[in-house]
Amino acid sequence: MQESETTENIILSIEWRGDHVRILDQTFLPGRTVYSDIRDVGRMWEAIKKMRVRGAPAIGIAAAYGLYLGIRDLPENSYPSFAIEVNRIAEYLNSARPTAVNLSWALERIKTTIHAHKEEPIGNIKDVVLKVAQTIHDEDKRVCKSIGLNGVELIPKKAQILTHCNTGGLATGQFGTALSVIYHAHIAKKKIHVWVDETRPLLQGARLTAWELMRAEIPMKLVTDSMAGHLMQTGQVDLVIVGTDRVAANGDMANKIGTYSLAVLAAYHYIPFYVATPASPIDLNIGSGAEIPIEERDAKEITTIGSSEVAPAKVQVYNPAFDVTPHALITAYITEKGIIKPDFSENLKSVFGK
Ligand code: MRU
Repeated sequence: MQESETTENIILSIEWRGDHVRILDQTFLPGRTVYSDIRDVGRMWEAIKKMRVRGAPAIGIAAAYGLYLGIRDLPENSYPSFAIEVNRIAEYLNSARPTAVNLSWALERIKTTIHAHKEEPIGNIKDVVLKVAQTIHDEDKRVCKSIGLNGVELIPKKAQILTHCNTGGLATGQFGTALSVIYHAHIAKKKIHVWVDETRPLLQGARLTAWELMRAEIPMKLVTDSMAGHLMQTGQVDLVIVGTDRVAANGDMANKIGTYSLAVLAAYHYIPFYVATPASPIDLNIGSGAEIPIEERDAKEITTIGSSEVAPAKVQVYNPAFDVTPHALITAYITEKGIIKPDFSENLKSVFGK
C-alpha cells in the first residue's frame, strides 16, 4: 500500500455536503456500506447515541456539525435568546454520550466562538459556526496523520501489534489514532502483523478494525478479547497500541472496556503499552481517571448478538462501555506533538497546557 492509495482507501466516516452531514452508518458494517444524510440536530443526537457515528474524535466532529444544524434556522432578531437556544442545543448534544470529552470540547469551542462574535448579525454568527465545525473536522484529519507519522519510530522493523476497539478512519476525521500509527508503519515498510481484539460487546474490533485493516491489506488476525493473555504469554505480542476517549491531567485515561485488562497484562509481560491520541481527548481540567464519567449502555448489547438472544430473558446485566487505565501502566502517549513519556502530569501539562 502506497501513501496515495492509503488516502483513497481510508473511508470518510463524516462529510459535510453543502447543507447536510453524510455519515457512514457504522452499525451496518461490515455487511453493508450504508450512508445516512443528517439534516437536523435530533437525528445527529440519535446517530451519536446509537453509535452510527462513534470514536471520540468522530463524535466531536459530529457534535460540531450537529450544533450548526440545530442553530441554522433559529430566529435572528435577538442575541440573548439566540445564545440561550445555543446553550440548550449544546447541552442536548452533549447528553448523547458522556465519556469522550471530545463532545463537550467541540461544543465549548463553538460556544466560545459565538460569544466572541456576539456583536455581529446572527446570520454571520451562524456562518462562523459552520466554519468552526469544518475547521474541527479538517484539523482532526491533519492531526491524525501527524500521530501516525510520529508513532512510526516506536514500531520495530518487525512487530506483532495488539489493538483494541476501532481507532481508525471510521473513528476520526481520517486515518485514526492507534490505527494511524499502524497504517503509517505499514507504509514505512515495517513488517507488522496486527492482532485485532473483537471488542465485546459491540464488536468494534471484529466489525470495524478488521474491515479497515483488510481494505488496507495489512496483515492481521482477529482474536477474542480473552485471548490476549495467551498471546502475550507465548511471546506473540511486541507492543499494544490503543486510542483513548479522555485523558486526565495525571495521565490516567479512559478507553473501550477491556483496555485496562490489556494494560495490566502488558505490564506483567513487560510489553510496551502505547496510547495514541490527539489533543482533543486530553482533559487537563480533571486530576485523575476517577473523575471520568463512565458510560453505561443498554443491557441488550450484551444479551443479544445481532438478532440472537445469547442470555436468559430478564437476566440482570452490567454494561460499562469504558474503563480507566492508570497512568503507571502506560509506556507513552503518541500525539500530534510527539511522543510523551512519564512523568505524565508534568509532560502533558507542558505540551498541552494553556
Ligand atoms: O464506544 P466507541 O466505539 O465510541 O469507543 C471508541 C473507543 O474506545 C476508541 O478507542 C476511542 O474513541 C479512541 S480512538 C478514536
